[in-house]
Amino acid sequence: MHVTPLRWTGTALELLDQRRLPDEETWVECRDAGSVATAIRDMIVRGAPAIGIAAAFGMALGALRGENLDRAAATLKAARPTAVNLAWAVDRMTALGQVSPRVMVAEAEGILAADIEANMRIGQHGAELLGPSITLLTHCNAGALATGGYGTALGVVRAAVESGRKVAVFAGETRPYLQGARLTAWELQKDGIDVTLITDNMAGHFFQQQRFDAVVVGADRIAANGDTANKIGTYTVAVLANAHNVPFYVAAPISTIDIACPSGASIPIEERSGDEVVETFGRRIAPLGVAVRHPAFDVTPARLITAIITERGVLRPPFTSSIDKAVRP
Ligand code: MRU
Repeated sequence: MHVTPLRWTGTALELLDQRRLPDEETWVECRDAGSVATAIRDMIVRGAPAIGIAAAFGMALGALRGENLDRAAATLKAARPTAVNLAWAVDRMTALGQVSPRVMVAEAEGILAADIEANMRIGQHGAELLGPSITLLTHCNAGALATGGYGTALGVVRAAVESGRKVAVFAGETRPYLQGARLTAWELQKDGIDVTLITDNMAGHFFQQQRFDAVVVGADRIAANGDTANKIGTYTVAVLANAHNVPFYVAAPISTIDIACPSGASIPIEERSGDEVVETFGRRIAPLGVAVRHPAFDVTPARLITAIITERGVLRPPFTSSIDKAVRP
């Protein structure tokens, strides 16, 4: 059984504390909507689909506890701004209207199950794009830990391995939060998948050496024209892939597409604390008082994306029309 970042006990949501990986597997219990929102903001649970699923259970917890659900929805949605899956999941729960807490729980469980199912389909569609023996570069963690299970980008990796392909993965460490080093390396190693860790600034060197057959990354929000927000550093990798004629694939469920965003220019980019840049593991690495910036995401323009792999199939340019067709019910 693959890693799962969250589990529902019937009365509480348990979250694998991703801040403590890979050293410790500790679970944090949430019993109300507010504690789920805090867990999302503090990165106990992270990754676009996973925070959406957690928020859905947050709404179910709010219903079970008789909380004001309008307030719960607003608090959950405000936890992190970039991943549209968060608002998507909360809106889906809100759309149920006045229903029993039991119905809310069932809806959240349905969102979780559908996400795993979508990831397996994404994996199958993605694997078909790959040759029999490949080396892939990925960035951040778009794996089981970032979803209901199985993963999007790492779902493609898993499905490729399961189909008998020989797959090697290079994981960029993903400064400053180190999702690649801490999470991607951990979950691939756990599954016995060949993984090599590199620092982000080594990517160009390995592209020059023609080490990569393809890049596969996840997404936090895909605009109607295909522009894609993902973890900071993704754009740099896309530029490199383009310069070296390496296919650049985005793997994401339909729930990550925000048709209301015409282009990447209207995607809100989360700015996190500079402390996460000037400190690693509580130790300061830069002089006191230095100016610092920490945008947590960047936008890769559609022109650098070879294809978007969704559960409904592989979307190709021009994305405005392929996305429009894919999002129709
Ligand atoms: O800040 P994070 O760790 O939540 O950022 C996660 C990413 O950027 C992932 O690539 C994205 O959410 C896709 S997860 C399937």
